[in-house]
Amino acid sequence: MTDLLAALKAAAEPTRLRILGLLDRAELTVTELTQILGQSQPRLSRHLKLMAEAGLVDRFREGAWVFHRPAADGTGAALANHLRAMLNRGDSTYLRDQARLDGVLRARTEVAADYFAANAAQWDRIRALHVSEAEVDAALTRILGEAPIGLLLDIGTGTGHMLELFGPKAERGLGVDLSHEMLGIARAKLDGAGLYHCQVRHGDMNALPVGDETVDLVLFHQVLHFAADPQAAIDEAARVLAPGGRVALVDFLPHAHEELREHHAHRRLGFAPREVAQWGQHAHLDIGLAETLSGDPLTVGLWLGRKPGRPALGRAAAIDTVS
Ligand SMILES: C[S@@+](CC[C@H](N)C(=O)[O-])C[C@H]1O[C@@H](n2cnc3c(N)ncnc32)[C@H](O)[C@@H]1O
Repeated sequence: MTDLLAALKAAAEPTRLRILGLLDRAELTVTELTQILGQSQPRLSRHLKLMAEAGLVDRFREGAWVFHRPAADGTGAALANHLRAMLNRGDSTYLRDQARLDGVLRARTEVAADYFAANAAQWDRIRALHVSEAEVDAALTRILGEAPIGLLLDIGTGTGHMLELFGPKAERGLGVDLSHEMLGIARAKLDGAGLYHCQVRHGDMNALPVGDETVDLVLFHQVLHFAADPQAAIDEAARVLAPGGRVALVDFLPHAHEELREHHAHRRLGFAPREVAQWGQHAHLDIGLAETLSGDPLTVGLWLGRKPGRPALGRAAAIDTVS
């Protein structure tokens, strides 16, 4: 009763209802909300603080930015869901807010695209050394099969490609990456694809911002070769995996292309299946090489592993425990 009253009081204000209507479509910073709503930053910060305290919105920090999104659970979340559904989508204020939101999202995409363009040449050079992305995607899709995915965690999500590919099969998706620029691209992509149940967060593969035993599928797609300590990264993945959860690892088999280390920050020049199996043993995950895709000159390996135990149902809500 107290929670509901607090949420009702916090929602009963025109700007806050407009904020709920905007967060329905995208995670937004105070600065972005300022651009859309034309109100001062301190004023909007006050509204958002009240809304967060009443459980209507969730806030999360990523570097210097704080993003806001609709609360995921609790009384406030339920109320916010109802209120968003009741908003009059033909109302002129609502329509103006949405048009300005379109502008903000377009600007985000442009910034992300500029960054991507500046780095694309480098990525293309690496891609040319192995099989096509489409071939890897198809193999990974085959290996993972049709089983529904509860909570999907994409470690080193980069531009969010894995979330785009497997997000539609997951109840919830979370991508974690160290690079704010990459996260910017991923966020713009996910917004563009309408994958609102997928989020990205700044985070390190060695200290994932995720609770113990909450994740159903962990993906490492072309990321473990950046790891200073792959065993630590696999141990950390094992920590967050729920019993019965799976881990898929896509990376190169051992190679001698030192230039990937010199020019592209790879720490490791591929991984031998025995080494990966040993990391798995250490982390109590049963990991094996499921498929190899030979390119010229690099061969891509796809490993699949599982954490012992029986999967439980209804775990996707656990993403809300992400700090
Ligand atoms: C080659 S990209 C791959 C991106 C994505 N997995 C894909 O395949 O499209 C590697 C990504 O790993 C991220 N990364 C590197 N070290 C990381 C770490 N310690 N924790 C989280 N992300 C990391 C980089 O920022 C980069 O976005």
